[in-house]
Amino acid sequence: MKDISILAIESSCDETAAAVVKGGREVLSSVIHSQIDIHKKFGGVVPEVASRNHTLFINDIAAEALCRAGKTFEQIDAVAVTYGAGLLGALLVGVSYAKAISYALNIPLIAVDHTKGHIAANYITHKELQPPFICLVVSGGHTALFEIKSFAEHKVLGMSADDAVGEAFDKVARVLGLGYPGGPAVEEYAKRGSASIKLPVSRIGGYDFSYSGLKTSVLNYINSLKQKNQEINVGDVCASFQKAAIDVLVEKSIKACKQYNYKTLCLAGGVSANGYLRQAAEKKCQKYGIKLYYPLKEYCTDNAAMIGAEAYYSYINGDGVANLSLNAQAHISR
Ligand code: KG4
Ligand code: ZN
Repeated sequence: MKDISILAIESSCDETAAAVVKGGREVLSSVIHSQIDIHKKFGGVVPEVASRNHTLFINDIAAEALCRAGKTFEQIDAVAVTYGAGLLGALLVGVSYAKAISYALNIPLIAVDHTKGHIAANYITHKELQPPFICLVVSGGHTALFEIKSFAEHKVLGMSADDAVGEAFDKVARVLGLGYPGGPAVEEYAKRGSASIKLPVSRIGGYDFSYSGLKTSVLNYINSLKQKNQEINVGDVCASFQKAAIDVLVEKSIKACKQYNYKTLCLAGGVSANGYLRQAAEKKCQKYGIKLYYPLKEYCTDNAAMIGAEAYYSYINGDGVANLSLNAQAHISR
C-alpha cells in the first residue's frame, strides 16, 4: 500500500492540474496550468470559459504529469479526482476524464473533497505530520476551522456565514484596481502601508466567521473618498483590511487549540500563502506552545498533488472509492 502511485486530477476552478503522488506523501510530479491570464481581463473567473479551457488542456496536463513522474498510464495504481466543491462545469471535466482513465485501465477511481485536499497539502510538505490537529482552511471558496481527529475524521468547528476570506481579498483588490487574483496584490500593498483605518470587527460567535460586513465597510470607505475626490492611500487600506480579515482567523484558531487541547495547528488553502497570516499565527503559537504547520506556497493554492495526498488516505481507509456513477458537486454539505 505504501508504494501505490495515484494520478490525481484537479479542475474545480481555474487551474487545470494533474499530479502523480506516491504513498500519500511523495510528489513525483505536479503540473498546473493556470487560466489567470484568460480570466483576469474579466476581473474574476468566468465559469463557462474555465470549463472550455479545462477540456482543451486536461489531456496534455495529465500526460505531462505522467511524463515528469517517469510513469506510463499502465504504471498507475489508481486515479483520483476532485468531485466538489467548485464550479460544476469545471469539475465535470476532471470527473469525466478520471472516469475514462479508471474504466480504460481498470483501476480504482477515488473521489476527493477539494477542502480535504487543501488540508492534505500539509502532508506532502511535512512528511512527519500526523493527526490529530486543528486546521484552518482559508481560500477563495472556503473559510472553515476543522478538528482533524484522524486521517478519516474531519469535524467542522465553524465556517464563514457569508463570503470566504479569499473572496473578500479579491473584492477589495478589484475595487482598488489591483487586478485578479487579489490576495497577493493586497499583501504586497499592505507592506507599504499601516493598519490605521478603523474597520469593523466581526461579532459572529463561536468558531464561525463573517466577511461581508468587513468587505462592505472597505468598499464604502473607498467609495466615499472617491466621491469627495480625495486621494486613497492604497497601502493603508490594504494593511487595515488584511489585519481585520486575518487577526480573527488566528484568534479563533488558537482558541480552538486551547479549548480542545490540541498542540498542533495547520493552515491550508490559497490564503495560507499570506505572510501576515503565517507570522501572526507563528507568534501566537509560540506564545501558547503550539506547533504550526503550513504548506509550501505552491501547494497552498489549487494543485493536484494535494488531491493525490488526500486520495491515498481515503483509499486506504476505504471511504473514497467511487464508481462510474460519480457526479460532480458544486457544494458539499458538512
Ligand atoms: O485555494 P485557492 O487557490 O482556491 C480556492 O479553493 O478558492 O485560493 C485562492 C484564493 C484567492 O482568493 C486568492 O486571492 C487567495 O487565495 N490568495 C491570497 C494570497 N495568495 C492567494 N490571499 C491573501 N494573501 C495571499 N498571499
Ligand atoms: Zn482551492
